[in-house]
Amino acid sequence: MTSRERAPWMALVVDVPAAVEEELSAEIGSDALGVLVERGAKGWNVLEVCLPGDADVAARARAAEASLAARGLSPGGRVRIRPIEDGRWVERYRAALVPLPIGDRFVVLPSPRCEGTGGREPLRIVPGRAFGTGEHPTTRLCAAALERAVRSGSRWLDLGTGSGILAVLAARCGAGAVVAVDVDPDAVEAARETVLANAVEDRVSVRLGSVEALAGADLDGCVANVAAPFFLARAGEIASCLRAGGSLLSSGVLAAEAASVAAAFEDAGIETEETRTEGEWAILVSRRRGA
Ligand SMILES: C[S@@+](CC[C@H](N)C(=O)[O-])C[C@H]1O[C@@H](n2cnc3c(N)ncnc32)[C@H](O)[C@@H]1O
Repeated sequence: MTSRERAPWMALVVDVPAAVEEELSAEIGSDALGVLVERGAKGWNVLEVCLPGDADVAARARAAEASLAARGLSPGGRVRIRPIEDGRWVERYRAALVPLPIGDRFVVLPSPRCEGTGGREPLRIVPGRAFGTGEHPTTRLCAAALERAVRSGSRWLDLGTGSGILAVLAARCGAGAVVAVDVDPDAVEAARETVLANAVEDRVSVRLGSVEALAGADLDGCVANVAAPFFLARAGEIASCLRAGGSLLSSGVLAAEAASVAAAFEDAGIETEETRTEGEWAILVSRRRGA
């Protein structure tokens, strides 16, 4: 998920049917540095998944083969590994990016050259720096839930901010103050850039760290796109950031994990009102008891 400059970059090159390109791109390219798509012939496209040089590329190739096999496709010869020698993947990746609608109101513009908003409000991000381009279902689930939950002037925490996309979106939805935290220094740097690019620095502050720094903050809401084990381990600390009746939007959770996360929340005094899904991913929409 991080993008410290390391050389050489590696590319996992995978031939995929155009009909399932998007879902395979999300699956195979999950937490990669970026994915380029090249249109191929006869209904097939080529995904170029950019990975840092120290990634376990062989394991990623096996996972890609398994993804193809799971869709009844023979993986033979369809997954290849090669170094990216010119080191210019960032430029190529950015050039390939297009505006991406997110939620009901917004469109993510991942490049300064992207201008088409289709009547939506633009969110600018710098891609290739941290997770959170708007492509992943969990980011999209969080964005849509934030649009519904954020009230004017409310105080929010974006826990695991990545690129900062959700913190900016919360501010644009009317939050009066948003604290964005991440344990990854690269993400913190990327989120600060995103905040500046969207001119919301008066309402969003970005910090290195996690939930413990916000204990007792009495927040109106928290959006956290992290992972089920994190929620299982830290439900009590998350509850302690929220005021009674405060909202919690939790994703990074597989639909199959949602019930166990809801049970951990219940033990911590957080009631889950709704679970929404996109594909295999879920978001829990919850509230701290006691309002
Ligand atoms: C799936 S990304 C979400 C990024 C962005 N919020 C989004 O929705 O697209 C998860 C982020 O959580 C961060 N993270 C992981 N463990 C964390 C922890 N214990 N506390 C805070 N952030 C954490 C990761 O560094 C990563 O940037």
